Amino acid sequence: MHPVVAESVRSIASASREKLRQFINAYWLRPENAFWMMLRSDALSAVPLAAPCADLSCGDGIFSFLHAGGRLAPEFDVFRGVGNLERVTADGGDMFDHVDASYQPRVIGRPKYRLHCGTDCKPTMLTKAAALDFYEHLTPHDHNHPLPFETDCFESVYCNAAYWVERIEQFLTELHRITVPGGTVALQVKLDDIGRYTLERHREMLGDRWWGIMHGDRFDHWPTLCDRSTWEQRFESAGFEILAAIPFVTGTHAHIWNVGLRPIAPMLIRAMNNVHDHLRAEIKRDWVDLFCDLLDPLCRPDFDLTDSPTDAVEIQYVLTPRG
Ligand SMILES: C[S@@+](CC[C@H](N)C(=O)[O-])C[C@H]1O[C@@H](n2cnc3c(N)ncnc32)[C@H](O)[C@@H]1O
Repeated sequence: MHPVVAESVRSIASASREKLRQFINAYWLRPENAFWMMLRSDALSAVPLAAPCADLSCGDGIFSFLHAGGRLAPEFDVFRGVGNLERVTADGGDMFDHVDASYQPRVIGRPKYRLHCGTDCKPTMLTKAAALDFYEHLTPHDHNHPLPFETDCFESVYCNAAYWVERIEQFLTELHRITVPGGTVALQVKLDDIGRYTLERHREMLGDRWWGIMHGDRFDHWPTLCDRSTWEQRFESAGFEILAAIPFVTGTHAHIWNVGLRPIAPMLIRAMNNVHDHLRAEIKRDWVDLFCDLLDPLCRPDFDLTDSPTDAVEIQYVLTPRG
């Protein structure tokens, strides 16, 4: 390989590893979420998000901030600012739906750009997003209702939570309305095939208690999960042309994600939030190093254990409003 090409391959690999480290640092006690974020970020890198851009269901904004090249200090992670931990295991409370004055992500590298707007139905998440100084506007909104934006006001829209919206047809029609002709809508959507990578077929034998421990109520949050052709019919009906459809999460990724640390996360978080800062930092550093090595090779969109490629469980669609 020519030395200039080799050097550029090395620098792309090292930038990618640094991004993975940032995701693992932020989500360390749920490493399976960190690699899913990395897959999303890598897929999204192929899509130019022209300004003004809206990030719908932005949550705490950490994903989009890190995707844009922002960097957060090693002591920051999303598990510092959680609440209701005692209730999470008992009755499925959302530990992230909480914010207090201690939530102060320390930025050590500004992202390459800022986003015009972020929305979410949870005001606590938007308070956290505001702490990043990454969004010009943050708008609390439930996407089951018409979007609070003018017609043709965004050049680009990104959303990785469309399948959380019950009134999906109305939501997609609204995306079409707020996007300028020729603009870009990038949606990362899960497919119902994700259900194949659970022990669903043994559910009766496993029982409700087992199922609740392993999966909680997460499938209940995805009322409009469907197969690929249904997504494409929905986009068509809402007036979109599909410019690209890139599968980027395999069944093997879904297996690993399903066996992740979710059931024990509340206990791990409580333990780590109750040790001295220096010990927490030491353990976290070793943990992040370890998971960088473990997850790096898995962060390929075609990583699959089977010889015949299994169906994807998440696809990135790049859409544009039809004229
Ligand atoms: C898996 S999180 C993704 C958050 C963020 N985009 C990210 O990548 O970290 C899904 C987000 O969708 C939001 N959400 C769920 N239903 C919603 C709705 N009907 N309207 C607006 N936001 C919603 C949740 O509050 C949550 O922040």
